[in-house]
Amino acid sequence: MKTKIQFVLKITGVLFLLLLISGFFMYRYFNKTFLGFEDHLMQPSDITELHIDGYSFLDRNGNGSLDVYEDERQPLKTRVADVLFQMTLEEKIHLLKGSGVASAMGNVNPGGIPGAVGTIVPTPRLGIPTIYLSDGPAGLRIQPIRKGEDRTFYCTAFPIATLLASSWNEKLLYEVGDAMGKEAEAYGIDVILGPGANIHRHPLCGRNFEYYSEDPLLSGFMGAAVVNGIQSNGIGTSVKHFVANNQETNRNLNDVRISERAYREIYLKGFEHIVERSQPWTMMSSYNKVNGVFTSESKELLSDILRDDWHFEGLVMTDWFGGRNPVAQITAGNDLLEPGTKRQWEALLEAARDGSLLETDIDRAAERILSLIFKTKKMQNYVFDNNPNLDKHAQITRNSAAEGMVLLKNNGALPLTNVTNIALLGVTSYEFIAGGSGSGDVNEAYTISLEEGLSNGGFKINTLAKQLFEAHKNANLKGFKRPEGLDAIFTPYSPPEIDYSKEQLDQIAATSDVGIFTLGRNAGEGGDRKEEDDFLLTSTEIALINHITQAFHSKGKNVIMVLNIGGVIETAPWKSLPDALLLAWQGGQEGGNSVADILSGKVNPSGKLPMTFPVNLEDHASHANFPKNPIMVNIETLVKNMVFPPKDRPLNEQIKDEDYTYYDEGIYVGYRHFDKENSPVSYPFGFGLSYTDFEYHDIEVNVVNDSIQIQFAIKNAGDVSGKEVVQVYVEKMDSDINRPKQELKAFTKSQLLNPEKQEIMSLQIPITELSYWDENNNKWALEYGSYNIRVGASSRDIRYETQLILNK
Ligand code: BGC
Repeated sequence: MKTKIQFVLKITGVLFLLLLISGFFMYRYFNKTFLGFEDHLMQPSDITELHIDGYSFLDRNGNGSLDVYEDERQPLKTRVADVLFQMTLEEKIHLLKGSGVASAMGNVNPGGIPGAVGTIVPTPRLGIPTIYLSDGPAGLRIQPIRKGEDRTFYCTAFPIATLLASSWNEKLLYEVGDAMGKEAEAYGIDVILGPGANIHRHPLCGRNFEYYSEDPLLSGFMGAAVVNGIQSNGIGTSVKHFVANNQETNRNLNDVRISERAYREIYLKGFEHIVERSQPWTMMSSYNKVNGVFTSESKELLSDILRDDWHFEGLVMTDWFGGRNPVAQITAGNDLLEPGTKRQWEALLEAARDGSLLETDIDRAAERILSLIFKTKKMQNYVFDNNPNLDKHAQITRNSAAEGMVLLKNNGALPLTNVTNIALLGVTSYEFIAGGSGSGDVNEAYTISLEEGLSNGGFKINTLAKQLFEAHKNANLKGFKRPEGLDAIFTPYSPPEIDYSKEQLDQIAATSDVGIFTLGRNAGEGGDRKEEDDFLLTSTEIALINHITQAFHSKGKNVIMVLNIGGVIETAPWKSLPDALLLAWQGGQEGGNSVADILSGKVNPSGKLPMTFPVNLEDHASHANFPKNPIMVNIETLVKNMVFPPKDRPLNEQIKDEDYTYYDEGIYVGYRHFDKENSPVSYPFGFGLSYTDFEYHDIEVNVVNDSIQIQFAIKNAGDVSGKEVVQVYVEKMDSDINRPKQELKAFTKSQLLNPEKQEIMSLQIPITELSYWDENNNKWALEYGSYNIRVGASSRDIRYETQLILNK
């Protein structure tokens, strides 16, 4: 018996030892292969300054003399050519991929910036610094708490991109971009990974909140304004995800099967506007394939279209671990592979040695990367102070959020008058959602809830309603636990809703002046939304809307609904119930204050919808080909995919909308489809109410040289100050081809107009912008003849219409 026990113990001991040893080797392998395989490349720290003939320069390579690339008086191109000439082949290849997964997880070398998700590696021998890349579209995402530091490094959470687009205000977006750029500059980040400019093809794409609109012109103009704002600080941007990344389900392998016309007119067009109007320093290729080719491996996309057709001058980087074949990526014109893996490094090196990767292609990519490095502040000897003006930026985000909120309904309930005691209903009123999850999230210091916002605005919050919320929270502590760390990336925070009894609601209605019910939704990267309990309201929510409105209306009191959501939801069946409906989107860290500004009338709402709110989800033509059973990514899959890159399913096992998605709706996305079919919608594209009324006067439309000029006067005909968004839609009459009923071709926003005041505004539409993509001849083509020009307050509220003949 004793020997048996001894034997078992020995075997267990040996197994344990083996486990330890293999664990150690696995850890070493993982560490060396994925985490810090470039750790030996350290940022040069001891560069000395030299003075020659009254000129001071950094002697980057320490050779005691002034090299051309060290001479800041020389043109950038000359300096880059010089340094490229001095680099070894290996040094150049090092530049083509980031420093590894550790940087993607925010772990960077000493002296680095924790939370930055990637780097461009330094070249120590030549004194070239590390460049830091960090998310993202709603503000900088770096780690706010650092070991051994007794201060914090919070960033401002600005509104989600969809809200910003709802402002239709390019100046405002420039201002937001400028503030984002200033924060990056202060925290030592060189390139912001954003903005996102994919089209809202379907309401349920989990990342729609990071994107602007269902319309390419609006997306492009908004994106360009943000890029210009950020880059005005000498900070780069990476416009993403280029292109047709319109679903999260199987995003790394999904093949978008699309017609050339829809590709050019809808999905590429917004990015084209951005390149033309702002020349972003970088573009980020997307994960998906288009017509069988990974975007990051597509020469047609990255070289022929982006560079030859659009004259893009910056560099292209991959999305994190995107694509498959590093050699094909560099050859196609995807210059930088992020966050970089040892496998990529080895593959590139081997291909360079055996000639399957041409040195000219390596040089081309390295030159683009070096050009970016030379443009950064890091190359200008700047020292960042970690001290952004967070107070000023809080004000900017508060104003911008208020300007992008959309008033969908108002039966005289807003702005609040004769209201002191407000009953706040629904968990989201107290747990306001600042933005979506994933890389589009921001680590902000605080989020102002609606409760705080209204209290700050001098309103009293109904005690009973608040007590019920607190009791509910205490009873459901688990559901209210915010996901933390890596978990937070792929887990949107969605605490359970309160189910008030009728008696409780009666009591609340009796003790307050008005009821505000906030409905919340939270989604994010790594998963698409579902129809049930997300696009559609849950049965609890529907019952709540009924019961709340009954309780308040029976006492002659109003109910206002606030939608604190990141994407479109169903509104048609219940929108008649509340007295006012405010689409607050997700307004960043000051969201509660911004909503309070609108409810109180301090700010007159002027946002308009950048997408359609349909009656039913299936009314969207894209619904026939969109994942119905979204697959969510989590950290485990992510790590697994890193070690064992996912493979395509065999052709005969491929699943529709997962392995491939047919864009059968073609160009008929959003309002282009609804207008063509003349179908009812819940709220049309471009719609939004104000507390005042606007009149459109003296509209004139002319062709001058190569553009259509539209002039008009906007008059505030009501009795409070306000801003108006004016939209111009164009229709080709008697077209020979199948064309949309109308397309947005220009828009503008008035200044804040006092009652009775008017502003003369003018807009231009380059005639070439009326072209369509001619698939027979593979080029843009312009139809001559008559066009209908419509000037309106929304796509379905046209105030003026005229015809114009375009002659050859
Ligand atoms: C996202 C990008 C992001 C990158 C770095 C990827 O998963 O798709 O948008 O910039 O991670 O965080």
